[in-house]
Parts: sequence; C-alpha cells; structure tokens
Amino acid sequence: MKSQGTARDLPEAPGLYRLWMDLPTDTRMRVGALGEIVLPAGRYAYTGSARRGLRARIQRHLRGDGPLRWHIDYLLRHATVIHVETYPDAEQAECALNAALLAWPETAIAVRRFGASDCRCPGHLIRTPRWMPAPLYAPARLPSGEPICVRLLRPDDAERLGRYFLGLSDRTKARYGPHPFDQATADAICASLDPRDMLRIVATTGGGDDETIIAYLLIKVGVRESDGKRYAALGIPLDPKECGALAPSVADAWQNRGVASAVMPVLITMARSVGIRRLVLWDGVIADNHLAQGFYRKWGFVKVGEFDTSVLNFDMIAEISA
Ligand SMILES: CC(C)(COP(=O)(O)OP(=O)(O)OC[C@H]1O[C@@H](n2cnc3c(N)ncnc32)[C@H](O)[C@@H]1OP(=O)(O)O)[C@@H](O)C(=O)NCCC(=O)NCCS
Repeated sequence: MKSQGTARDLPEAPGLYRLWMDLPTDTRMRVGALGEIVLPAGRYAYTGSARRGLRARIQRHLRGDGPLRWHIDYLLRHATVIHVETYPDAEQAECALNAALLAWPETAIAVRRFGASDCRCPGHLIRTPRWMPAPLYAPARLPSGEPICVRLLRPDDAERLGRYFLGLSDRTKARYGPHPFDQATADAICASLDPRDMLRIVATTGGGDDETIIAYLLIKVGVRESDGKRYAALGIPLDPKECGALAPSVADAWQNRGVASAVMPVLITMARSVGIRRLVLWDGVIADNHLAQGFYRKWGFVKVGEFDTSVLNFDMIAEISA
C-alpha cells in the first residue's frame, strides 16, 4: 500500500476515522471470514473506530504491512490511501458517520458486512464516485492557534451561509462576485449542491448550533467560458478535465489572519482528489487587490496576463499536481 504523507498531525485521542482510498485496478482478494471478494477499481471510504487511540491505529493502517486482523487490512495491501479524516472524541457513533456518507448520491456499500462484524450496519466500506472530493471534512488551525473546521458545504448549511453572505461588506462584495449574496441564493445553493460541477468549501468556527461560517471558497470544476477564452488568447490552453477556477472569500473580520491559508492545504487535497491539476482565478483578480495577490502568490499562483473590465485585472494560474 502507498500513502501520500497523511500520517502527520494525527490525534492520539480515541475516536472515529475515515480512510479514503483509491484502488487502481479491479482486484480479487481474500478478506478473512468474508472469503474471496472482487472489488472494481475506484474510490472507497472506510469508517472505523479506534478506542485505544487514533494515531497508533491509523499509522498501522498507513504502513499497511502488519498482521491481517481486520477486514480493512486485506484491502490496504492493494489500495492507496489518499486521505484520512479523524474525529477525535467523537460523540457521533461510528455507524452514524458511515450512514452519513451513504446519503451522498452514487455511493453504495461495497461489500456486505465488510468492517461491520460487531454492529448491524450493512457494511463500513463504501464505494464512492470519483467526483466525490476527499476529505469531506478536516480540522485546521489558524496562526493564532484557534481551531477551525474545513469542509464541504452541506444541505443543512443554508441558514449559516445566508448569515455569512449578509455579513459581507460592500468592499468585499466588490472584489468577490461569483453570485448574489442573499438568503434566497444561500437557500438555492444548499438545495442543489453538486460537487461534480462546483466544490463549495467552507471554514467554520464553533460547533453545533454555534457553528459559524467564516470563509467560503468555490472551485468551479472545468473551464468557465470567459476564463477559457482569455487563456486561449494568452496561448495557454486549459484542459477542462484538469482545470478548476478558484473564487475565495473570507468574512471581513477574519481577513488577513491566515484563514484562507489554513484552508488551502485541504482545498488542494480535495481538488487533486477529483483530478484537478491546475487552478486559475475565476474572472481574475482586480489589479489593486494586493492582499488577494499576496495570498495567491503565497500559494504558487503566477501572473500570466492582464485584462480590462471596468478596471484592470490580472490572470494568475497555479499548478497543483503533487
Ligand atoms: C483574498 C482573501 C480570500 C485571502 O484570504 P485571507 O484569509 O485574508 O488570506 P491569508 O490571511 O491566509 O493570507 C494573506 C496573505 O497575503 C499577505 N498580504 C496581506 N496584505 C498584503 C498586501 N497589501 N500585499 C501583499 N501581500 C499581502 C499576507 O501577509 C498573507 O501572507 P503571509 O501569511 O505570508 O503573511 C480574503 O482576504 C478575502 O476574502 N478578501 C476579499 C474578497 C476577495 O478579494 N476575494 C478574492 C477575489 S480575486
């Protein structure tokens, strides 16, 4: 098994975890008491719990070599772990976390009873579509030490997103304009989420009823027509299979405090997991938006062109292949 450097910062606490894996080819394997199974090539998510501590359990999984004890050990001889989600001290039950993933379209139990010897679940190994970004959730930390959560926007976020939109200043909205910022737009977005078309990533603080969105970053999957035309004119053809258009925003009170920078490693992992290898800026960046340009340069974007709307704008592009 190969893994992609995901063992860092694993919590020692007990809790739940989810391994995201890619299986490169159709594979026949023997899985303990389940016997012989055949898994088609594709993306899989396994939900488990580690009562004696997440770090030791996950490091064992990432090494992928120990004794064949759990069902997942057999699969890890063949699959590549692309990301690990951890839920230390989770109040949620393992089976509920597993079931939540099954609520996404085009997901299915991969093998009945896999990883579910001790519970009544149909199985803890879920086959997910390739367009499903991984992770769906990741903890992160601001330079101040404050913890935030980075995750995909969910259908139940409409009220939170509406509050975020309504709180944006005119100055921020003048620089960030992928769509209107009102409650009706937030409701419509959350009612029709489709990661195949758009990754909508939020950063939040607090938890439960107090969870508050402090950043909202979009990646349009593929090439937007206007961006594609400008890049073609620059002699940089964009391949829709490998391209995404980034449009980031951070709540005014949180700007220039490292929020978007804390989101970026997760955002890049998510984008790569769905095949995106280059990011361009959605409609470019306004020439006098120095903070945004400083942020983009920090994350490897380079300026490749200029264009006029009512103001001067820059096109910037970043290669994010690993
Ligand atoms: C642009 C935006 C998404 C960046 O997010 P953020 O959380 O504020 O950014 P961060 O704090 O993570 O990073 C900002 C970086 O820019 C640097 N920076 C700040 N002001 C700068 C300036 N005047 N010139 C150059 N760099 C500057 C900061 O020093 C920081 O880099 P560092 O961490 O190396 O010090 C956010 O500020 C925002 O929403 N702005 C309004 C909307 C917008 O402009 N969106 C982009 C449209 S193209």
